[in-house]
Amino acid sequence: LRLGVMISGSGTNLQALIDACSGPDYPAEIMVVISNRPGVRGLERAEQAGLKAVTIDHKAYEDKETFEDALHDCLSEHNVELVCLAGFMRLLTSGFVNRWRDRMINIHPSLLPSYKGLHTHARALEDGVRFAGCTIHYVRPEMDNGPIIMQAAIPIDADETEESLIAKTLTYEHKMYPAAVKLIAQGKVRVAGNKVAFKDTDM
Ligand code: GRF
Repeated sequence: LRLGVMISGSGTNLQALIDACSGPDYPAEIMVVISNRPGVRGLERAEQAGLKAVTIDHKAYEDKETFEDALHDCLSEHNVELVCLAGFMRLLTSGFVNRWRDRMINIHPSLLPSYKGLHTHARALEDGVRFAGCTIHYVRPEMDNGPIIMQAAIPIDADETEESLIAKTLTYEHKMYPAAVKLIAQGKVRVAGNKVAFKDTDM
């Protein structure tokens, strides 16, 4: 499966995908990495792995549509079949999202549908919930919404801090993103209405 990974920052999830793709028999490969922010660590990771790394800076475009046309053209040029949002911090219009319907996934650091948006870990700690989490889902026009592919519930310890919870959540994210992409690449994931149905897995 031909992947396009879109990032805005450090790219630790991108790194997890790079590492998985370099393993034997992994059924996906990264065709292009796109960052909307110049000079970020994730772009370095892509280059270090010998991948095509492209900056498409939203600030260089007149409006959202022309920015998104550039994203779309870049993904299409590289024959991308699945777009993986990995810490991509721009909201995408419904026009773009619908062009990639059921072909674009996102990772979000909460147990959706709880804690959409930013500062998920701090908000969970403030509320005193006992479990945080992370979710991989198909992207729909509404932010942090769409058919859920995989989730982990992550216990919040008594002495948890925002920093420790962010770090702990990332360790789950890094396992989950390659696992979800693998299932999709194997053709085992099907969207049925607003949910995901699995074929030939024990999930
Ligand atoms: C992750 O927590 C991801 O869930 C969220 O943004 C963060 C990106 O981190 N969408 P990284 O750039 O992959 O290190």
